[in-house]
Amino acid sequence: MDFSLIICLVSFITLSFIIRIRRTKEAPAGKRQPPTPPGWPVFGNLFNLGAMPHRTVAGLATIYGPIVRLKLGSVNTVAILSAKAATELFKNHDLTFVERTITETSKSHDYDKSSLALARYGMYWRVLRKICTVEMLVAKRINESTAVRRQCVDNMLDWIEKEADSAKTGSGVHVAKFVFLASFNLLGNLMLSRDLANPDSKLGSEFFTSMLGLMEWGGHPNISDLYPWLKRFDLQGLRKKMDRDVGKAIEIATGWVKERVEKRLNEAAQHDVDRRKDFLDVLLDYEGTGNDELEKMSERDITIFILEIFLAGSETTSSTIEWALTELLRCPEKMIRAKDELASVTGPNQKLEERLIDDLPYLQAIIKETLRLHAPIPFLVPRKAGQDTDFMGYHIPKDTQLFVNAWAIGRDPEHWENPNSFEPERFLGSKVDYKGQHFELIPFGAGRRMCAGVPLAQRVLHFVLGSLLREFDWELEGHVKAETLDMRDKMGIVVRKLEPLKAIPKKVKY
Ligand code: HEM
Repeated sequence: MDFSLIICLVSFITLSFIIRIRRTKEAPAGKRQPPTPPGWPVFGNLFNLGAMPHRTVAGLATIYGPIVRLKLGSVNTVAILSAKAATELFKNHDLTFVERTITETSKSHDYDKSSLALARYGMYWRVLRKICTVEMLVAKRINESTAVRRQCVDNMLDWIEKEADSAKTGSGVHVAKFVFLASFNLLGNLMLSRDLANPDSKLGSEFFTSMLGLMEWGGHPNISDLYPWLKRFDLQGLRKKMDRDVGKAIEIATGWVKERVEKRLNEAAQHDVDRRKDFLDVLLDYEGTGNDELEKMSERDITIFILEIFLAGSETTSSTIEWALTELLRCPEKMIRAKDELASVTGPNQKLEERLIDDLPYLQAIIKETLRLHAPIPFLVPRKAGQDTDFMGYHIPKDTQLFVNAWAIGRDPEHWENPNSFEPERFLGSKVDYKGQHFELIPFGAGRRMCAGVPLAQRVLHFVLGSLLREFDWELEGHVKAETLDMRDKMGIVVRKLEPLKAIPKKVKY
């Protein structure tokens, strides 16, 4: 360790002691703050988090109840751990907690200033949100791109088949890798009408690599977020790496936006506008109505929006599909039931079509059950208190960070029978879904800041999983037993399986 780093650490510890003493606000007289586990000087409850914080924080509910206060470095945090507390939050306090916590890496190249997921609750957020939910990610527009999804899923099935053919006997394929590639490619087609998985596209693969970087650095715990006065030192080098990769991704995406602007001008000049409108067209077409609305979206805002859609929709999808297949491989009778349902609905010699998803209640139940047990973003996108507030008898000071633990809530024993076991049957004949009205199942969040991509995510998840089950019979690798399958997960920007699932696909001859 070099000398300057030692000086830096010593001063940081001293400083944090002083700041901690000054900052640990007592609740006003007569009010109490949520219970908190004992912490360490300087570090607070950091060591309570462990490698899988959604699990360890969920465990605190049995000792401290459904609302727990944690001091993470210097950041006051409250975690919501039960469906009842989530109901109270989203019904009565959504507006108080509508703002987001902004991390240090998300400030790279002012990403946070143009991002929808991180935007302040105000005019810019409202405009972008409306574009998403009214124009872009709605059934009508999604229906127009059915053929694009068909093509991307067919490509994925081909890649998997080829990989299986070339693999050694008995070894499986890394399913999530192919689902990730397919989701990324799908988003590239929906947003930009570009095939980014085309190995001949140098720019496409550079963009892909930079986006992988964004996901990696953005999901890494960062000491600068825990002790903001240390951010100038960037001790883990995360900001530097993020600056490099965000910079590259912005450069490439800006080029695509400019190219499109030119293409549209040519099309307009030649009265040739007969092509499918993609998401980029929707963004470029936007014009405010004047009533306190943004007039046009700037090139920078559009570019960041493009990056955001890739971030929001690719790893979440691949992680969910990986878990669904993993759970089914542990329960062969459920796998058979799902495949029988698919066979009877698609009919002989037919692939799964998106329009049939409504007729597949068991497949839908599998997706719900997977998201209940394995919410890909287990703390949602963290929020913060906009003002001092009273929440279920506790005082929560302004600026407190809020984790809503969707993972814990999905396993809340007060709401779920056998909460830890994979039982899709529980959803058959049940009205409970994940669209933000049932607070015991909130993998997409709820309230004003709920996921804006649910209609697309829902379509893609069912179509991808259904197609994987329709086209292949799946087996575990020879040496792996269903009972001992590794079910640990790891935290990044999305939680995914620690040990990637490797499974053997056998093409179904139907
Ligand atoms: C399995 C798939 C997905 C999951 C589990 C998921 C989950 C989430 C969660 C938990 C949030 C934060 C919600 C909250 O704070 O209450 C969120 C926000 C968001 N998601 Fe998704 N998401 C998925 C797919 C997508 C897709 C495909 C898109 C777009 C194409 C998308 C776009 C967004 C956006 C724009 C936000 C920010 C909303 C805001 O702050 O107003 N998501 N998502």
